[in-house]
Amino acid sequence: MKVYIETYGCQMNVNDTEVVFSILARKGYERTEDIAQADVIMANTCSIRDNAEQRIWGRVDYFSGFRKARKGVLVGILGCMAERLKDALLDTGKVDVVAGPDAYRNLPELLTAAREGHPQMDVILSREETYGDISPVRIDKNGVSAFISIMRGCNNVCSYCVVPYTRGAERSRDWRTIVREACDCFASGYREVTLLGQNVDSYLYEDVNFAALLGKVADVSPLLRVRFSTSHPKDISDEVIAMMAGKPNICHQIHLPVQSGNDRILEKMRRRYTRAWYLERVAKIREAMPDCGISTDAIVGFCSETEEEFRDTLSLFREVGFDSAFMFNYSERPGTLAARNYPDDVPAEEKTRRLNELIELQNGLSLESNRRDLGKNFEVLVEGPSKKGSGQLCGRNGAGKMCVWTDSTHKAGDYVYVKVTDCSSATLLCELIENQ
Ligand code: 5AD
Ligand code: SF4
Repeated sequence: MKVYIETYGCQMNVNDTEVVFSILARKGYERTEDIAQADVIMANTCSIRDNAEQRIWGRVDYFSGFRKARKGVLVGILGCMAERLKDALLDTGKVDVVAGPDAYRNLPELLTAAREGHPQMDVILSREETYGDISPVRIDKNGVSAFISIMRGCNNVCSYCVVPYTRGAERSRDWRTIVREACDCFASGYREVTLLGQNVDSYLYEDVNFAALLGKVADVSPLLRVRFSTSHPKDISDEVIAMMAGKPNICHQIHLPVQSGNDRILEKMRRRYTRAWYLERVAKIREAMPDCGISTDAIVGFCSETEEEFRDTLSLFREVGFDSAFMFNYSERPGTLAARNYPDDVPAEEKTRRLNELIELQNGLSLESNRRDLGKNFEVLVEGPSKKGSGQLCGRNGAGKMCVWTDSTHKAGDYVYVKVTDCSSATLLCELIENQ
């Protein structure tokens, strides 16, 4: 039996797909990247914004073509959209299996039962499941950088966000299994791990908090780089910042979603910090690590956001000078606190105008940030050949910036030193420094 899986959404979903491949491999399923060969076609889905879901509905239609063409082909929907829409997916008559994020251990049984002609659904959320004992089958191509989930779910209930409903309550994975997985990654040639969680700063297993976990993973090998995502501004602690500053192989990069620069909107989003608090955290990070890359997420056009309040997001972006950012129009998600309590009253065109203004500002800030690096030297982990041109390699510096340089002597997994000679808003163009 061959399985084909498309993955949408966040890095956590990429890692979940790896867990699913591992669970199915134990039952004899083989992975295929060719949908036409597959006996089981699945999508691991995202519900974060309406357009993410619309895209997946299109895939359901596309998959059903293969299901009609060849008898016995099963279609499965996994992940957040499975959890949110449940029966609605089965009701289309185009889907055989619906499995939520905590149901993957049951997939082999669900597929077997579906093969008998009975559509199957398991969307039960768990308070314990962390898939801690499962070694993911790595699907990334470079063999250098791996994702490790350290926790699942989320307890924050930001008013706009569907994640607590689709991924359930927060639970942390046994730190021993995390350290073991990092060791396994290193032994099989990986040189970078990214620890994943919706809110890594609230990691706690027995007496090991996130700072302690970071230290344990960094101690696996000085040649193993450690990154993590996502931090919550209300929870990122001085202890985590000190641990990052103190261990040379913990990369100086923090993804710190701000969402808005206005206190009334932050309150309405239930973020539980203020603009001043956020700016203080950024100052603290920069004091400890002046070279730290800081990126963010922001939502424009949240319920009742005025032009003036949106301007506070622009001014916060300028004040911080983010290295990069992901920016979104607010998308109302059914069932969330915001959907239940506040009208989605900023017109679509107005959201898009604000979004474009913010994106334009950030493009300029990204370029400024890269210009500040001109002439600097960085240690870079080689990820592989650059997409840009022949004879060029690419890899990231500690701050997470993509570097590209001409090189015929190194390969993926090597550490090299480069000097920045030019840049765009997205990339640092570099030259290799010999003998360092
Ligand atoms: N609408 C728009 N963007 C959202 N995000 C989360 N929920 C929504 C929503 N309902 C954004 C946030 C979050 C990122 C992963 O997605 O900025 O940090
Ligand atoms: Fe999408 Fe959020 Fe689910 Fe990740 S956790 S797949 S971003 S809805």
